[in-house]
Amino acid sequence: MQVSVIVLAAGQGTRMNSDLPKVLHQMAAAPLLHHALTTARNLDPARIVTVTGHGGEAVAAAATAFDETVETVLQDPQLGTAHAVAQAAPFLAHAEGEAIVLYADTPLIREETLRAMLAARGQHAVVVLGFHARDPGRYGRLITEGSNLLAIREFKDASLDERAITLCNSGVICAEAKTLFSLIADVKAANAVQEYYLTDIVELARARGLSAGVVLCDEAETLGVNTRAQLAEAEAAFQSRARAEALDNGVTLTAPDTVFFALDTHVGRDAVIGPNVIFGPGVTIESGAEIKGFCHLEGCHISRGATVGPFARLRPGAELAEDVHVGNFVEIKNAILEEGVKVGHLTYIGDADIGEFTNIGAGTVTCNYDGVMKHRTRIGKRAFIGSDTMLVAPVTVGDGALTASGSVITEDVPPNAVAIGRARQVTKPGLAARMFDKLKAIKASKAKGQ
Ligand code: UD1
Ligand code: CA
Repeated sequence: MQVSVIVLAAGQGTRMNSDLPKVLHQMAAAPLLHHALTTARNLDPARIVTVTGHGGEAVAAAATAFDETVETVLQDPQLGTAHAVAQAAPFLAHAEGEAIVLYADTPLIREETLRAMLAARGQHAVVVLGFHARDPGRYGRLITEGSNLLAIREFKDASLDERAITLCNSGVICAEAKTLFSLIADVKAANAVQEYYLTDIVELARARGLSAGVVLCDEAETLGVNTRAQLAEAEAAFQSRARAEALDNGVTLTAPDTVFFALDTHVGRDAVIGPNVIFGPGVTIESGAEIKGFCHLEGCHISRGATVGPFARLRPGAELAEDVHVGNFVEIKNAILEEGVKVGHLTYIGDADIGEFTNIGAGTVTCNYDGVMKHRTRIGKRAFIGSDTMLVAPVTVGDGALTASGSVITEDVPPNAVAIGRARQVTKPGLAARMFDKLKAIKASKAKGQ
């Protein structure tokens, strides 16, 4: 079945009290817009059209950054939800198959729910996603008769009896694309606020002898973000869903409530995630890897059998091959660690390639930045980097080479060589004792003088 998705993202979001367009606020390390686009993309749609308005350029850029095939159209001025959908007509009015309207500020709608709506299209020409609201507030009310939806009444236009209805409109709508745009063309702004309401298409459809119906979802799924408090609420809901999914997928979370996932985090089966682990965007963890407590990971890939942490930070471009060990207080950025590399303690590895089974001693630093440019450090296989080695990049250490502890390595080290780059040790017998005696005498004479 061919599907197209229209994502409405023009709203200002006044109540966010922000310079940033509402749909660009982050949830699970991704803009709200990306959540709606992810759900849309999971349907494998023929086209996705994002309708932008406030902050249009930035919102359009975020849409194409998500996927360059996403199309964007500017709605200016914003005259209501039907007017917003109408902006997508040049792309979709003649499209084959179904059209689904999503809101970019409603990030928790599940793919399964949209599939249920598509299935319900077998019974009804227009399918609306509804929910039973604990507090129906200002939501549009669904007026039903049996399995038929008769109308959606906006709160502002509803009678007291209609306001007593608790079955509400989520805003998500599904219809054949051609039907949707033909109905929208008939919507008039004849209501309390002179807006073109998408919700009017239900009565317009019925006037044409077409039926409308409701698919129900849990209220939690339709949580809309209008305030920072709701953003925090949506974040919490996302996290509890992501934790439950990870556990279902065979991931061990020792303290699930303390692990924070990003929208695009992938964790393989039998991986173990300790407490207080934070995932930024772009992390993939393969089966059987272990992330110990208090790690912060973003833009990295961790292969099977690797162990990371506790207290490690992996930044974008960190690539850990199988059985790599990264220990405590280690930071890794834009670096490839081949199989079996060990970086146990207190180390910074940035802009580097490290060959298999090389051991990096405690306190090693790749000095990758000269104040203007970044440079690369290349270390071969089975090398041994002594503790407290400063590798001043660009620099290469060959296979099987060794650097002495405390060395500042500024020149390339050939394979199998030992490089020592530090001052020679000078030892003065008895000097410490003589020094301390002298200092104690000075202290005593000062005390007498007072
Ligand atoms: C809308 C529905 C209401 C439903 C509620 C669910 C209509 C007329 N009403 O009301 O029945 O219960 O959502 O949250 O559809 N938008 C645009 N361009 C516009 C206007 C809106 O892109 O010109 C976008 C907004 O950014 C937002 C969404 O459409 O993402 C909904 O708009 P909003 O003004 O919040 O509609 P509600 O009044 O909440
Ligand atoms: Ca709203």
